Formats: sequence, structure tokens, C-alpha cells
Amino acid sequence: MDFPSATPAISLEAPADIAQREALLDLSFGRAARLAKTSERLREGRLPAEGLAFAAHGPDGRLVGTLRLWHVTAGPARPALLLGPLAVHPWFRDRGLGGALMASAINEAARLGHGAIMLVGDAPYYARFGFSSAPTGELWLPGPFDRARFLALELKPGALAGAKGLVSATGEAVASPSLSELVARDTAGEFKRSA
Ligand SMILES: CC(C)(COP(=O)(O)OP(=O)(O)OC[C@H]1O[C@@H](n2cnc3c(N)ncnc32)[C@H](O)[C@@H]1OP(=O)(O)O)[C@@H](O)C(=O)NCCC(=O)NCCS
Repeated sequence: MDFPSATPAISLEAPADIAQREALLDLSFGRAARLAKTSERLREGRLPAEGLAFAAHGPDGRLVGTLRLWHVTAGPARPALLLGPLAVHPWFRDRGLGGALMASAINEAARLGHGAIMLVGDAPYYARFGFSSAPTGELWLPGPFDRARFLALELKPGALAGAKGLVSATGEAVASPSLSELVARDTAGEFKRSA
């Protein structure tokens, strides 16, 4: 008899995952804290990099892990990716799922030809995947950050050699509704709240 696998399956994120992803991130980081992060300044209003947003689903289909990568430039004209947030549901932690999401992201980014991945996170966790603060020494983020947590991994040797300056978002902007669309939605009562 076949039993369903208890190992969460990793796939590309689908639109149907978004609400559960938001809830998992709120649970893992706290909503206000996560939206206040400097890395968030490089993600807000942007779409994640094509083919580089991952979701893990448990045996019952619920989302239990998330990881996304974002287009940035590491100083002028130096394309790179920013990784994060990475989160695994507390019930599924310490079983290798975070590592499996990281492996999927790194392998796929390399396969797609990207040169480097940067992130802000706990060095003791990310060191096992090859991340260190050495390549980011002369880079700056658009807000307060702890240099010891500003890490990078070169997928192509030398991809960040000499990288200097401000890291900026370069990802595709999320389409915002036009004024006429907002007026139509307001007229339809979409924005009215019941007392
Ligand atoms: C960090 C996180 C994604 C790891 O997911 P996971 O599925 O438990 O990871 P894995 O099972 O692949 O790895 C577990 C190992 O990482 C270690 N680890 C987990 N978080 C760590 C951290 N912040 N610093 C150092 N080591 C850490 C565990 O102690 C464990 O070590 P072991 O292999 O020696 O036993 C998960 O704990 C999580 O979602 N945390 C809350 C959100 C968060 O902090 N995200 C990362 C932002 S820096």
C-alpha cells in the first residue's frame, strides 16, 4: 500500500500560494518587523525574478515553505539576485526543507545563468551554502543593515569582484491600477467597509 510522502514537495510558486505565503511570513517574522527590513526596500513594488520564486507544500497541499529571488544591481551595471525571505513553517523545521529550498534556488539561479546571489541573514545558517560577507564589503543597502549579515555567493567566479556602491532594485514593477480602474472599483463598492 502506498502512503503519501511526508516530505514537502518544492515547486515554483503559483498565484494561489500568495495568501498562504503572506500568512507564513507573518508567522515567521511578524508583519511589521518584516516589512520594516531594509531588504524589503529592494522588493516592494517589484515582481520576483522569473522562475525563481519557490513554494513547498506539505502532504495536505498547504504551503509550508517559501523562498524568492529578486533582480538587483550590486552597484552600477552589476546584475545580481537578492534572496529572501526564506521561511519554513515551524512544524516542518529541522528536517532539511530550508536547505532544500536553498539548493533549489541556487541551482536554478545558476542554471539560468545568473552570476551572484546576495542576502541579509544569519551567517551561521547561510555559510553552509557558501555565502560569506567577503564579496559585499564595498556594497551598501538602501537603509540600516548589519555588515556581518550582508552576505553573497558568486555563482560565476568573480561576478562580484570589485563590486562597489549601492544595491538597487531592478526587477519588473508590479502593475498598479490606473485612476479610472480605482474609481470603477470604488463605485462598485469594493473599498467600502461594513460598520
Ligand atoms: C531558518 C529556517 C528557514 C530554516 O529552515 P529549516 O527547514 O529548519 O532548515 P534546515 O532543516 O535545512 O536546517 C536546519 C539547521 O539549520 C540550523 N538553523 C536554523 N536557523 C538557524 C539560524 N538562524 N542560524 C544558524 N543556524 C540555524 C538548525 O539549527 C539546524 O541545524 P543542524 O542541521 O545542525 O541541526 C527556519 O528556521 C525559519 O523559517 N525560521 C524563521 C524565519 C527565518 O529566520 N528565516 C531566515 C532569515 S535569516
